[in-house]
Amino acid sequence: MALTEGIRGNDKERGVFMEIIRLENVTKSYGDKLVLNHIDKVFHRGEAVAFVGHNGCGKSTLLRIIAGLTVPSDGRAVQAPGLLFHYIPEKFPPTPVTARQYLLNMGILDGMRRDEAGRRIASLGEDFFFGELLDVPMRSLSKGTLQKVGVIQAFMTRPDVLLLDEPVSGQDKESQKVLIEKTNELRGEDVTILLSCHEEHIVNAIAQDVYTIREGRLEDYEPAGTKMCTVILENAGGLEADGRMTKYGRYYRLKAEETECDRILPGLLSRGWRLRGMYNEEDS
Ligand SMILES: Nc1ncnc2c1ncn2[C@@H]1O[C@H](COP(=O)(O)OP(=O)(O)OP(=O)(O)O)[C@@H](O)[C@H]1O
Ligand SMILES: [Mg+2]
Repeated sequence: MALTEGIRGNDKERGVFMEIIRLENVTKSYGDKLVLNHIDKVFHRGEAVAFVGHNGCGKSTLLRIIAGLTVPSDGRAVQAPGLLFHYIPEKFPPTPVTARQYLLNMGILDGMRRDEAGRRIASLGEDFFFGELLDVPMRSLSKGTLQKVGVIQAFMTRPDVLLLDEPVSGQDKESQKVLIEKTNELRGEDVTILLSCHEEHIVNAIAQDVYTIREGRLEDYEPAGTKMCTVILENAGGLEADGRMTKYGRYYRLKAEETECDRILPGLLSRGWRLRGMYNEEDS
C-alpha cells in the first residue's frame, strides 16, 4: 500500500479519504518501560482524531512520533511527501524573546512575508485575548498563556496536519471557544487534526474519532452513555472505501456513534453502497 502523492487536490466530491500518515508496527520503549506496543494506524486527509487516556499512557509520545520528533524503537511512521506539519507541544519552551518576535520568526520560516506575518499575529492576538502580552518576554508568561503562543503559531498559516498536544490546558473558556472554532475551520479546509486532550467537551467539539491508549495499544474510546452502531455495507462495485470502514470478509464494516451513522448513511447509500446489516450495542 503506497502513500498517495499529490495530496493537495480536492477529492471531497468523490468521497475519497486519502491516506497521509501511516503508523506501521510503531513501538516505543523508554528503558524497560513499553509505552507504545505495535501500533498500526492510518490517518486520512481532513480527519479529526483525538487521543485521550490517563497521564503517562503515551499520548504525547504518539504525537511526537507522528510529527517525526521522536524515533520509534521499532516500526515506523510514514508521511505522504510534502506535508506541512504544525506541532504544538504540551510544554512550550520559555525563552527571553517576546511572543511577537517568536511568532514573527516562525511565520517567516513558514514562508510568510514579514508584514503579512505581523498583521496575522495582531489579529490572532486579538482573537485569543492576547494583545497586551505580545511584547512580554515568553519566559515571564504563565503556563496557560505560553500555551496560547503555541496555539497562535498553529494558526499562522494553514498546515496539512495540525498536531495539538493538550492545547487548552490552563486556558480560559473564551480562548477554548476560539480554539474550537479555528480548529474546525481548518478541518473544513481538509486539514488533518490530531489532538491529545483531557477535556471531554473539547474532544467532542473537535474530533470525529477518539482513541485511548491502554497498555501501549490504541483502542476505540467509547465514553459511558454513548450508543455505538455498526453498519455492514457491500461494495456494489468500484466504490472507494471510506477511511472509517474496515474490510470484513466480502463486506465492509463501519462503526460509529448512532447519531453519526444516521448522518452519514444516506450519503453512502446514494453513492451506491448497499446496506447489508445494522445493529447497535444492545443487539450485538
Ligand atoms: N524522554 C523520555 N524519557 C523517559 N521516559 C519518558 C520520556 N518521555 C516519556 N516518557 C515516559 O513515557 C510514558 C508516556 O509519556 P507521555 O508523555 O507520552 O504520556 P501522556 O499520555 O502524554 O501523559 P500526560 O497525559 O501526562 O501528558 C510515561 O511513563 C513517561 O514517563
Ligand atoms: Mg502528554
